[in-house]
Amino acid sequence: MKQAWWKESVVYQIYPRSFYDSNGDGIGDLRGIIQKLDYLKELGVNVVWLSPVYKSPNDDNGYDISDYQDIMDEFGTLADWRELIAGMHERGIKLVMDLVVNHTSDEHRWFQESRQSKDNPYRDYYIWRPGKDGREPNNWKSFFGGSAWQYDELTGEYYLHLFSKKQPDLNWENPNVRKDVFKMMHWWLKQGVDGFRMDVINLISKVPGLPDVPPVNDDRYQFGSQYFANGPRLLEFLDEMKRSVLSHYDILTVGETPFVTTKHAIDMTNEETGALKMVFQFEHMDIDRDRGSIKAWKLTELKRIMSRWQNDLEGKGWNSIYLTNHDQPRPVSRFGNDTQYRVESAKMLATFTHLQQGTPYVYQGEEIGMTNVAFESINDYRDIESLNMYKELVEEKGWNPDDVLALIRAKGRDNARTPMQWDDSPNAGFTTGTPWMKVNPNYPAINVKQALADPNSVFYYYQKLLRLRKEYPIFVYGSYDLILDDDEAIYAFTRTLDNDRLLVILNFTAQTPVFTLPSNIVFADKELLLNNYAVESSEDIRQFTLRPYEARVYRLR
Ligand code: NOJ
Repeated sequence: MKQAWWKESVVYQIYPRSFYDSNGDGIGDLRGIIQKLDYLKELGVNVVWLSPVYKSPNDDNGYDISDYQDIMDEFGTLADWRELIAGMHERGIKLVMDLVVNHTSDEHRWFQESRQSKDNPYRDYYIWRPGKDGREPNNWKSFFGGSAWQYDELTGEYYLHLFSKKQPDLNWENPNVRKDVFKMMHWWLKQGVDGFRMDVINLISKVPGLPDVPPVNDDRYQFGSQYFANGPRLLEFLDEMKRSVLSHYDILTVGETPFVTTKHAIDMTNEETGALKMVFQFEHMDIDRDRGSIKAWKLTELKRIMSRWQNDLEGKGWNSIYLTNHDQPRPVSRFGNDTQYRVESAKMLATFTHLQQGTPYVYQGEEIGMTNVAFESINDYRDIESLNMYKELVEEKGWNPDDVLALIRAKGRDNARTPMQWDDSPNAGFTTGTPWMKVNPNYPAINVKQALADPNSVFYYYQKLLRLRKEYPIFVYGSYDLILDDDEAIYAFTRTLDNDRLLVILNFTAQTPVFTLPSNIVFADKELLLNNYAVESSEDIRQFTLRPYEARVYRLR
């Protein structure tokens, strides 16, 4: 396997609105991030993925961009941004920007032009269609609820929006769209950015004719991913992007790609033929979801999914490894235990993530074990997805509001978006003003200041993990083999690189299961590299009892 800096990296994701507010307006900003760069350096990450900071009316918190080449007023200025990237580079941290080009904001100049008339030069930058029998052009449903089409009176046609109606989809069939997007990418790369995280990039090619989805229930709108995910021209568009832009720079590119198989991922990330360095896939994130409701998940199912991705991509493609981001609940609440074993389970889950093969991602607050939030009222939530869902289910379909609130508490994106908890002062030290969203009330106990003062904190465990990754190539390049396939409590696997081997043992439960080493794993010598409980170095590891959420990593020789 070829060595590459982006394989050896650990990426830290910043959701700027919620990271740190430097000017007291209640909204995180670029100067706030600048003030926290030494914190990131201390943690040991070497890449930052910055969620969108471009001009935006904030219908979807910056994922609706009205100017790709300027900064949102609330976040600062281009001069602040230049200072930010310089500060990162001084500290050996690379900057990956979010690239949101499946859609723009409806306030983007291109769309403002596009809607003016059917013969406007920008008309074809978006996907416009006349209505069908007095209704929308097809029955596709938007990710954020309702039809994926919005009628515009000015020209009497509908435009497609897979996300909110303020996020019209760009028409990638139009070569001018591709040319303008590529030009914009060059502009950022020339400013020194080290890569792009590409928002829903595998949705840019839609099936021609935009066919209706065969109805599966009585609802008029159907989710049409088979017609817009991994579409017929996706690889061609990505290849053109590679030739026109990406191949000219040594950068990290990661495609956010819902609805992909390992085959799609290899097509996109193969080192010779693919356009991207890695994908960000979602199969393991769907493990506890069942068409909008919460479902109990099984460890064997998680193993099956993770192991398939590990084995299929080995030597053929590259993956991102993560348990959360700004769209997902907090892992310690979802896969661990956020009460009695919060610290232990946060460390166990970190071990799980960072020991898989792939580039690991840490989402802000994960490194101190931040948890989900359970706000009292729907009025405390801010996310357009949750608010639209509440409206649709409660107001239109008559669901019990408490049931919908329970769903949002478990799965809602705002779990990840409550402000970063810096200390135990009011508003967790995030702002001196009124935060744009309430802080999690557990901040007096869970915060960065506390974590930095406690040598046993989740923070220092991450720091150690990141240090080990730099020290031992096997963390990055070792191949993965699952053991104890059918165990519902213990997730165990080995990593192998030449004569070096790691044994990773993780208890995913609050119980005390017994670990038995398969007899085919033989070794002369063992060294304990990482543990979240005290362990006697002389302990025989052929068979032993694991403590709740215990994690151990041994090096075997
Ligand atoms: C994926 C992003 O991660 C999410 O936050 C956003 O709402 C959609 N794409 C639309 O841009």
